[in-house]
Amino acid sequence: MAEYDYDVLVIGAGPGGYVAAIRAAQLGLKTACAESRETLGGTCLNVGCIPSKAMLHASEYFDAAANGAMAKMGIKVTPELDLEAMHGQRLDAVKGLTGGIEFLFKKNKVTWLKGRASFEDAHSVTVNGEEVTAKNIVIATGSSVTPLPGVEIDQKVVVDSTGALELPKVPGKMVVIGGGVIGLELGSVWRRLGAEVTVVEYLDQILPGFDGDVRKEAAKIFKKQGIAFKTGTKVTGVTVNGGKATVSVEPAKGGDAEQIEADVVLVSIGRKPNTDGLGLDKIGLELNQRGQIETDHSFRTKVDGVWAIGDVIPGPMLAHKAEDEGIAVAENIAGQTGIVNHDLIPSVVYTWPEIAGVGLTEETAKEKGEIKVGKFPMAGNSRAKTNHEPEGFVKVIADAKSDRVLGVWIITSVAGTMIAQATQAMEFGATSEDIAYTCHAHPTHSEAIKEAAMAVQGKPIHV
Ligand code: FAD
Ligand code: NAI
Repeated sequence: MAEYDYDVLVIGAGPGGYVAAIRAAQLGLKTACAESRETLGGTCLNVGCIPSKAMLHASEYFDAAANGAMAKMGIKVTPELDLEAMHGQRLDAVKGLTGGIEFLFKKNKVTWLKGRASFEDAHSVTVNGEEVTAKNIVIATGSSVTPLPGVEIDQKVVVDSTGALELPKVPGKMVVIGGGVIGLELGSVWRRLGAEVTVVEYLDQILPGFDGDVRKEAAKIFKKQGIAFKTGTKVTGVTVNGGKATVSVEPAKGGDAEQIEADVVLVSIGRKPNTDGLGLDKIGLELNQRGQIETDHSFRTKVDGVWAIGDVIPGPMLAHKAEDEGIAVAENIAGQTGIVNHDLIPSVVYTWPEIAGVGLTEETAKEKGEIKVGKFPMAGNSRAKTNHEPEGFVKVIADAKSDRVLGVWIITSVAGTMIAQATQAMEFGATSEDIAYTCHAHPTHSEAIKEAAMAVQGKPIHV
């Protein structure tokens, strides 16, 4: 009889966990994955990336019809919102994709253990009252919403991202606490559908972690779209009365308090790793100060046989980062060399226009050494101009001596798709000259990357 029930047991079936389980099975390892949700796919497929993009995509069409963008192209329409149908297509997308993971588990012979897993020792966990053993256990339990002390989420008036995806009617007034990725994406959805949206952000600028120029330009664009911002402002409390909320705010650096009335308040101030109830004390695994599980470059924790990936470990809380770590951890367990280049994880905000970046911001690059920067406005790109999308730019940051590209930042409708090219070029160690002398198809938004690279040498054509 085998010493263990499984070679690999993955806890959590989000993009980190389900990918790790499938890769482990592909590599010939007997694999199980414990998941407590009714469906596979984790935060990303159930209540994150996918449903938010379904609402962003649909509301983008509504907005284009309502705000005159379609009329500008000779299409006169007066849109009528069928919110129930919009939610229906969101639920269809989630159902199709989560069902797809179940199919992939069956195809690859990954056993789904339904229920919450908790460690008994480093090689065994209890799932639904049954003990299961494995030679290797991968913690991929993801993250959940960071609560705001003193603010109770009722998912009706005060909601988190999950509640904000499912609102049964368009709020008259919506206050978003936190001008990060979730606040801007979901704030955009409801603004487009007719809500008056105010974003309250503690810092002086929205989108922390993004390039300074991008943060400024993004704020300008969102303001033009009708989103109001209160930056440098902290929320001191939210009270709910008769189905309405009163949000108390005051300047972060001190000053007069103010109250904002809202029909819906979205709390989106970040996410925290899921480790409660995992029984980490039973295996002697401690968390760092931010509540994360630390690993080495192979995703090994301090406990032999226990590995960790995704939102529960340090690094950006992004699905593609979790997926790449899932592949790498499985390959490492199988004795191969699984590597993730954490310096080149692209970030995308799926608003209109999209905002994307990879590598260093101009501010960080400057701190590290001498740089050259090339910037090209989308107003100079023939395709963006023809499509009536003059906003945004591409910025290429290169090392002043070696010309190696250190960072690329993009604001335009298809920035999320364009950033893949920049990431791949940087992964291959490209210089700005390499990008400038690569033939780009015309007319495409991507030509702006070439022009921004040419601008690093001071020689773009179309400005
Ligand atoms: P998760 O996806 O959180 O999955 C962990 C799973 O583990 C969960 O299903 C949970 O039920 C399960 N679990 C936890 N504890 C246990 C246990 N003890 N036993 C059994 N199961 C357990 N990222 C992007 O890259 N692009 C996007 O567009 C994007 N949009 C987002 C939009 C929203 C609204 C949100 C909230 C997040 C978004 N993210 C996006 C972030 C992305 O969802 C996460 O980075 C990603 O899901 C992390 O993957 P993971 O596998 O680490 O964890
Ligand atoms: P975030 O970290 O992106 O933004 C939170 C914002 O809230 C920050 O700007 C922060 O300064 C602000 N804040 C914190 N406390 C505050 C307070 N008390 N009052 C006012 N503002 C406060 O977190 P968010 O938006 O909740 O998203 C969580 C994670 O989910 C992100 O880190 C991201 O990795 C992931 N995500 C990714 C998406 C994508 O890739 N497109 C989409 C949505 C989420």
